[in-house]
Amino acid sequence: MNKDLNQKIYIAGHRGMVGSAILRNLKAKGFNNIVTRTHAELDLTNQSQVAAFFEQEKPNQVYLAAAKVGGIYANNTYPAEFIYDNLMIQNNVIHQAFLNGVKKLLFLGSSCIYPKLASQPMSEDALLTGKLEPTNEPYAIAKIAGIKMCESYNRQYGATHGIDYRSVMPTNLYGPGDNYHPENSHVIPALIRRFHEAKIANAPEVVIWGSGMPRREFLYVDDMAAASVFVMDLDKKIYEQHTEPMQSHVNIGFGCDVTIAELAKAVGEVVGYQGKIRFDISKPDGSPRKWLDSSKLNRLGSRAKIGLAEGLKATYNDFCQS
Ligand SMILES: NC(=O)c1ccc[n+]([C@@H]2O[C@H](COP(=O)([O-])OP(=O)(O)OC[C@H]3O[C@@H](n4cnc5c(N)ncnc54)[C@H](OP(=O)(O)O)[C@@H]3O)[C@@H](O)[C@H]2O)c1
Repeated sequence: MNKDLNQKIYIAGHRGMVGSAILRNLKAKGFNNIVTRTHAELDLTNQSQVAAFFEQEKPNQVYLAAAKVGGIYANNTYPAEFIYDNLMIQNNVIHQAFLNGVKKLLFLGSSCIYPKLASQPMSEDALLTGKLEPTNEPYAIAKIAGIKMCESYNRQYGATHGIDYRSVMPTNLYGPGDNYHPENSHVIPALIRRFHEAKIANAPEVVIWGSGMPRREFLYVDDMAAASVFVMDLDKKIYEQHTEPMQSHVNIGFGCDVTIAELAKAVGEVVGYQGKIRFDISKPDGSPRKWLDSSKLNRLGSRAKIGLAEGLKATYNDFCQS
């Protein structure tokens, strides 16, 4: 466990859902030397700006939670931006961190790195065993490159420069700070908005695309932040015992999944919607199941604590205040 509360920690993307949860977690632990920059202050795709920032700040640790993120529509419409921005952000941050003596860095990836047809639950060793989901392939390729960049720097410079760069792959996240945009949001914030609007309008039913049968896993963002800080601070020997130099990422999941129908019912209850839920089976379902194998993280000693009902309540409060 890392006890030096004065060490300088840079959180890239501290205003995003993930970065802000990591910031809350570190502040609650008493870390008091946290460096942040907004996108407007520092464009992480700009190499010279990132170099100047690292030369000036010289952080001890970096959490890399900045990324260009979006749903299927955005990924499909702007594939060039998704691959370019993400590769540039992570290349600039990881390389400048290395050049400026950062010993510890945590790269945030996502479960979309795994093949479309990976067996469930998806374990870390499913990486690079098959074709990716085409809709977010450019984004996933950038994330895979980020994992491999951390591994390559460790392999080339770990012994000589004492660097230890790690990667975590969280499942679908939800919680405060989520994006509730009507067209460009993930499933939980989208359902919260729709049930809330249906409640206000006294609508008799909410229609959900598909059969409601696909299963998905959801993790409350504060549990993800706790697990990320846990992996960052894990003793190097223990981390190395559970990973390989070229298979070093760690999944962060909730541990079990729910059907979309169960999720919709839970959201309706939290929002206080009294009408019916109807499933439109003429619309596509997507993959039947997407579920991460989190047994490595659990064996290392970290486990999610916040259940769906509790997490949805906190998220709905956040939505009402946003
Ligand atoms: N949300 C999920 O369900 C989920 C699940 C698994 C993994 N993750 C991973 O977690 C990471 C963060 O996701 P998130 O959900 O927190 O996304 P988010 O809420 O969109 O936050 C991303 C942050 O990155 C910043 N950013 C983007 N481009 C930048 C640039 N060029 N320069 C500087 N800052 C830039 C954004 O600032 P602006 O908004 O000002 O552009 C924002 O603060 C991603 O790597 C993602 O893959 C997320």
